[in-house]
Amino acid sequence: MAEDMLRLEGVRKTFGGSEVLHGIDLTVRRGEVVAILGPSGSGKTTLLRCANFLERADAGVLELGGERYDLAQATKREMAAVRRRTAFVFQNYNLFRNRTVLGNVTEGLVVARKMPRAQAEEIARGCLERVGMADRADAYPAELSGGQQQRVAIARAMATDPEIIYFDEPTSALDPELTVEVLGSMRQLAEGGMTMLVVTHEMGFAKNVADRVVFMEDGAVVAAASAHEFFDHPANDRVRIFLRTVGGEG
Ligand SMILES: Nc1ncnc2c1ncn2[C@@H]1O[C@H](COP(=O)(O)OP(=O)(O)OP(=O)(O)O)[C@@H](O)[C@H]1O
Ligand SMILES: [Mg+2]
Repeated sequence: MAEDMLRLEGVRKTFGGSEVLHGIDLTVRRGEVVAILGPSGSGKTTLLRCANFLERADAGVLELGGERYDLAQATKREMAAVRRRTAFVFQNYNLFRNRTVLGNVTEGLVVARKMPRAQAEEIARGCLERVGMADRADAYPAELSGGQQQRVAIARAMATDPEIIYFDEPTSALDPELTVEVLGSMRQLAEGGMTMLVVTHEMGFAKNVADRVVFMEDGAVVAAASAHEFFDHPANDRVRIFLRTVGGEG
């Protein structure tokens, strides 16, 4: 547990002349769940996207499982290597509409990893089982609820056996009762030892599942602490005000 799985150092990003990430440092240890909290516009999504090369940072270093990459200078080959070792769960699921549940989960294995289809399907069915979606393997995304679609997206992320999974507000498009099932799948994943970096506004998840919390504001990390410490002994007034706003006190 002592080993760092992910290190981000000095991540900077400017959009249209204004800097939205001012040199972010963040570490996630192997098997750890880190929640990123913070007000809208603080740069949470941009940080995750830069870490996975969905967005090109202006500066910064990514260290993944001991290998270092220059976020601003990485080659296509390096970017592909990083993406093969990581997975991303988006707010809006991003499933292929014209593929079945099983097809969505096997796609990355068969196409990107050249895995034989039979083997990919076996892995996919196992992952769908773990998120309670095995019986819907032949359904199309449009036939599923948002929560079910998000659980399929989580199965798809698990299937590639990533070293870390990034989540960007995975439940924010869902009704409360569907949120509960998705958070349940995420909790199981965490208990299984998956390393996770989760942007969320679910204070219950941050408090009960995350090991550590990183709080961002205006493109900077203004607090980082164990989840217990973050909620029970807020480091500063900005955290206190935020917790009061989102009802996450105590
Ligand atoms: N593609 C873009 N072009 C221009 N500005 C952008 C772009 N993406 C993000 N920004 C700006 O960067 C800042 C950080 O945005 P970001 O989406 O990372 O915030 P966030 O913390 O994820 O917010 P939210 O909680 O609302 O999702 C914001 O001011 C936003 O307007
Ligand atoms: Mg965001």
